[in-house]
Amino acid sequence: MATATATAHPNIALIKYWGKRDTALNLPAVPSLSLTLDTFTTRTTVTWGADRDAARLDGREATAREAGRVFEFLSVLDPSRPPCRVDSHNDFPTAAGLASSSSGFAALAVAASHASGQDLATKALSVLARRGSGSACRSLWGGFVEWTLGHAPDGSDSHGIPLAPADHWDVRMVVAVVSDAKKAVGSRPAMIRSAQTSPYYSHWCATAQSDVDGAREAVLARDLTTLGTLMEQSTHKMHATMTTSWPPVFYAQPGTMACIHAVMQLRDSGTEAWLTMDAGPNVKVLCRSADADTVADTLRAHATTVHILGPGAGPAVL
Ligand code: PMV
Repeated sequence: MATATATAHPNIALIKYWGKRDTALNLPAVPSLSLTLDTFTTRTTVTWGADRDAARLDGREATAREAGRVFEFLSVLDPSRPPCRVDSHNDFPTAAGLASSSSGFAALAVAASHASGQDLATKALSVLARRGSGSACRSLWGGFVEWTLGHAPDGSDSHGIPLAPADHWDVRMVVAVVSDAKKAVGSRPAMIRSAQTSPYYSHWCATAQSDVDGAREAVLARDLTTLGTLMEQSTHKMHATMTTSWPPVFYAQPGTMACIHAVMQLRDSGTEAWLTMDAGPNVKVLCRSADADTVADTLRAHATTVHILGPGAGPAVL
């Protein structure tokens, strides 16, 4: 029996992953590019060798569905593994578009790899984390990270690639929590619905590589206007595939729309603030650190909570 504890931070995609070319292996239909955040943390302890499989999430027993995902994931790491105990805690709202699955599976991959004695290298951990949740493969590094498509049928070359470390650029992501209710449609079924029914899905896939290429250059050049423009366009294109699916998938709430208008007004009045949203109602705004308080004060009128987060580090073993 061995126990290991790891922490990981969520990442927010600046250029989004939405759609899979292989649903079993979580191989993406599009490349993506993200920023790993600081402050928000998942902390996960894995005990390799217990009397039975048991998982606790945020202090409660995992549901059968959640436990199924966790233990199937551990069996990907080792098909002949012993029964395991998993205890995971997020210090931020789960399943509300705040990318909790990214930090969740990154922390689980690192803790399980250590507890099992396998001590996988970071790239192999990224491939493993991807099997739990696609976006998790980007949380294996801090700062700006790309997830390339890869070509291998087994997914061994579809993983995160570090682009620039957390201290490369002093930007902020201001997170406006509009609702922390659990989302109605999970990203997995919603992605499949977009791919199968949205008339915009093919355009979404066709433009993703050039969006990533442009964003990569903008990150390296610390060009906020170009990065913000590409990020906001990627968000609206992704949400267009969701809302034009059938039945449609709407993640926005009234507070979401209020935040979107507030950000556009900020820009009109000269503050560079750029918004992004994931599979949930919350709005995240990329800006310079010097503008973060102005952005946060503006969003506070429309949100239940506002957090100012910066670029964060990769996972740590405690
Ligand atoms: O990794 P998943 O299956 O939770 O999907 C994440 C999808 C988005 O958050 C909407 C976009 C992204 O690239 O993280």
